[in-house]
Amino acid sequence: MENNLNKNPSAEQQFAVAESYKTIRTNLQFMLAQTPGCKIVTISSPKAGDGKTTNAINVAIAFSQLGKKVLLIDADLRRSSVCKKLKLENNAGLSGVLAGFAAADEVIISVSHSFDVMPAGTTPPNPSEMLASTAMEKLLDSLRMVYDYIILDTPPVGVVSDPLVIAPKTDGIVVILKQGVTRHDDVTKVLDNLELTGIRILGVVLNCTDTPEKYYEYKHSDR
Ligand SMILES: Nc1ncnc2c1ncn2[C@@H]1O[C@H](COP(=O)(O)OP(=O)(O)OP(=O)(O)O)[C@@H](O)[C@H]1O
Ligand SMILES: [Mg+2]
Repeated sequence: MENNLNKNPSAEQQFAVAESYKTIRTNLQFMLAQTPGCKIVTISSPKAGDGKTTNAINVAIAFSQLGKKVLLIDADLRRSSVCKKLKLENNAGLSGVLAGFAAADEVIISVSHSFDVMPAGTTPPNPSEMLASTAMEKLLDSLRMVYDYIILDTPPVGVVSDPLVIAPKTDGIVVILKQGVTRHDDVTKVLDNLELTGIRILGVVLNCTDTPEKYYEYKHSDR
């Protein structure tokens, strides 16, 4: 498998990557537009390292490039990496807000006029319980009033239950699959679990495809 996010991509590769994220954004816009008011998207994948955070960041940026007000929430309270990837300082973050140590507007970092980030904060002893709490529901309800789109980066759904507890509080999930790595039975298991909890599957992204013009493929799942 070719690594398409190499350190020194050619202009052609950079263009292909940017175009792929725009395609994901457009497909998501169509899916969300089917139901008025839908704007909160969970990103997850079967296993660690499938490219959840990379996709969450780039999809959030792609939405913000439309001039929409976008918030990226690092809801991976176990192994957060949004701040590291964006070179931002982790603060009290989502876990601090849910614990009542800080207010949302105290932890949200403005990256650009249309792109904000809520860091994960300190790893709590009980991530699943925190994400399942009514405090999380209330937080999303209040943020829904402020932002056009909210993207949540989460841990792997095939490994921990966090995405299964948080995704029902959002408007749907995008599942990232890694070409050459994700196994068919992992996909079946994840989709079955999502169906059981009634989470709306907004689409599936095939990450790390080896076709240069198709770095990321987006497919809508009718399951
Ligand atoms: N399309 C891609 N091409 C090449 N490398 C990629 C691609 N997508 C992600 N990566 C790289 O793979 C690694 C894992 O990506 P990322 O951190 O986004 O995965 P993750 O699913 O969020 O992992 P975790 O489960 O640990 O949170 C990173 O080094 C990232 O730069
Ligand atoms: Mg991640």
